[in-house]
Amino acid sequence: MIEFKNVSKYYSDDCSALKEVTFSIRPKEFVSFVGRSGAGKTTLLRLLLKEENPSEGEILVDGKNIVTLKQKEIPVYRRKIGVIFQDFKLLPNKTAYENIAFAMEAAGRLEEEIAEDVPQILSLVELVDKADNFPCQLSGGEKQRVAIGRALVHKPDILMADEPTGNLDPLHTWDIIRLLCRINELGTTVILATHDREIINALSKRVLSLDRGRLIRDEENGRYIV
Ligand SMILES: Nc1ncnc2c1ncn2[C@@H]1O[C@H](COP(=O)(O)OP(=O)(O)OP(=O)(O)O)[C@@H](O)[C@H]1O
Ligand SMILES: [Mg+2]
Repeated sequence: MIEFKNVSKYYSDDCSALKEVTFSIRPKEFVSFVGRSGAGKTTLLRLLLKEENPSEGEILVDGKNIVTLKQKEIPVYRRKIGVIFQDFKLLPNKTAYENIAFAMEAAGRLEEEIAEDVPQILSLVELVDKADNFPCQLSGGEKQRVAIGRALVHKPDILMADEPTGNLDPLHTWDIIRLLCRINELGTTVILATHDREIINALSKRVLSLDRGRLIRDEENGRYIV
């Protein structure tokens, strides 16, 4: 479903964030990208989201090269992908419910659909009892669960998580990892970028290791070695 073919990204002559990266990810896989700071993890996710274009190479998603997508095709393409970040990026003056509902409103979804879907999403991320709390009234783990709920509103095929547990204590970290596994079991491809050795080693899922922009390892049931 996702294929990177000899993808390179140069920001300048002496800075190549990715070098000739080739891999493919099957539908419904759970894949982690690991590597030191600056290895190229975020760059790779940004290319997949088409926030940037590669300097060289092809990126195929469902058989279509996204590098040549037209500007007007990009919003529809992006709905295939839900994204979560280390810093949650919630709207501070909206409740948990409203943060999720707003993402649906912004996409022009009907009020009835919103009223039906948001409670289901809140239930999946186990936040029914915190629906009316504002972000400042939620723990870090709860905030990230709202962000995951929001990322799921378009029923994406792919959920991309860039260091989703970077700001969380170990207990909340495991809540989030368990939730990502659950979402994966329900049929969503999950792509995780992380530094966290313990998570990777405990997950025992496929691990792709980046080192200074190069893909140096690709292992099923991988461990964090970089
Ligand atoms: N917009 C940009 N302009 C110039 N250089 C950039 C830009 N974005 C990233 N880089 C460089 O590309 C390289 C890869 O960065 P990237 O953010 O992908 O690393 P990362 O693996 O996500 O690191 P971290 O673990 O710290 O988040 C780094 O050397 C970085 O300085
Ligand atoms: Mg990064």
